[in-house]
Amino acid sequence: MTKPILPGEVAAAVVDPVAYGEWDGLHQQLAWARAHAPLAVAENPDHDPFWLVTRHADIMAISRDPQRFANGVRQTVLTNREGEALARAATPGNDGHLIRSLVQMDAPDHMKYRLLTQAWFAPKNLRIVEDRVRKLAREAVDHMLSFDGECDFARDVAAHYPLRVIMDILGVPPEDEPRMLMLTQQLFGSTDPDLNRSREAITSAEQAIAMLHYVIADFETYFRELTADRRASPREDIATVIANATIDGGPIPDRELAGYYMIVATAGHDTTSASTAGAMMELAKNPALFERFRDAETEKAGLIEEAIRWSTPVQHFMRSAKADVEVGGQTIREGDWLMLNYVSANRDEAVFDDPFTFDPDRRKNQQIAFGFGAHVCLGQYLARMEMRILMEELLPRLKKIELAGEPARVESVFVGGLKRLPIRFEAA
Ligand code: HEM
Repeated sequence: MTKPILPGEVAAAVVDPVAYGEWDGLHQQLAWARAHAPLAVAENPDHDPFWLVTRHADIMAISRDPQRFANGVRQTVLTNREGEALARAATPGNDGHLIRSLVQMDAPDHMKYRLLTQAWFAPKNLRIVEDRVRKLAREAVDHMLSFDGECDFARDVAAHYPLRVIMDILGVPPEDEPRMLMLTQQLFGSTDPDLNRSREAITSAEQAIAMLHYVIADFETYFRELTADRRASPREDIATVIANATIDGGPIPDRELAGYYMIVATAGHDTTSASTAGAMMELAKNPALFERFRDAETEKAGLIEEAIRWSTPVQHFMRSAKADVEVGGQTIREGDWLMLNYVSANRDEAVFDDPFTFDPDRRKNQQIAFGFGAHVCLGQYLARMEMRILMEELLPRLKKIELAGEPARVESVFVGGLKRLPIRFEAA
């Protein structure tokens, strides 16, 4: 059977950081793909061909089968051909993984490593850290109110609060947070000239890899010192758990150790910043919605879940087929590469009524922004808790909010969301 091929403009949009920044045009292309070619191959001049998976049901089916759809074989985030070749040349064993974290692991390693910290991120444990998170939320609110009626919510509030929470839980002191923020933005937003290390447009894969090497080396230096400290003097934080953990009877090897810190330190804030800013944008645009959720008695869960669906901060992950598999009526061949497009799945008409309407009252919100299956987001309960607590602390202290300028999104194919959200507000 021949593979269905996507029209050029759909294939081009899903690899174009600018399309993710502009957002509306991308949604049109994805809606077309869901309706006409939900599992079809994207061919682009600079990338190896990959299957674009746009339907919710197909992403679920692939995610629940990690034996056949692996993370460790190729890049887990879309990388162009030149970048892949350079990454392979630059990594031990030519595996192309500049970082080896939970995300790049498959069985049996993946579960062994995941279990080291999973209990920390379970709802039961998070209740213990709730007071710490609330204190950080109150500080974030005080900081926002100090802006005297106008701020860039994405830059001035949403970018900092989730960072503070994850750093607190990890054990990184507040004075080191600006360095962590900068490194994360460079790691994830590296195609956006506003955020990357050199503050210039990245024009070659070589330039991108060189920049990522610097960023990763900076992280590694930092976490090497943290490990030594926590081995010498353990504390109640995740750094202590990671630094003192054993795998197969010995300490975690250096590469995996650095990868572990980096995934916890980085996965947990730009993402939650994006969904927090996404929630705020809808409240600023809709006074009735704001009035309703401002009331301290109004349950916030529906608002949070819908903001996560709406913003879908992690826009895709890649998988690689380890065998020939039938999915969604297509035959995927061993070695094929697949893009799980969560942006598309979270607007899938087959799952969500009126998917392009922001509706906090959805009865069963099946958003898939945290992924699904073995790799499902480790921090999903923390992300929801952080957002809920911030809304509980912030909204009652505001009388009014509105947009004060044009919001702007990050130009990135991977972690996206608002980089600018100018708002005007009146304190209660
Ligand atoms: C994995 C999204 C917040 C840590 C993931 C995955 C997605 C995701 C899509 C991959 C799932 C898959 O492959 O099936 C998000 C979103 C967030 C968020 C949208 C915020 C709204 C957090 C937070 C943490 C975190 C707060 C805190 C540590 C991780 C880790 C993984 C992961 C460690 C890798 C899990 C694995 O491979 O086993 N996340 N995440 N994330 N996330 Fe999150």
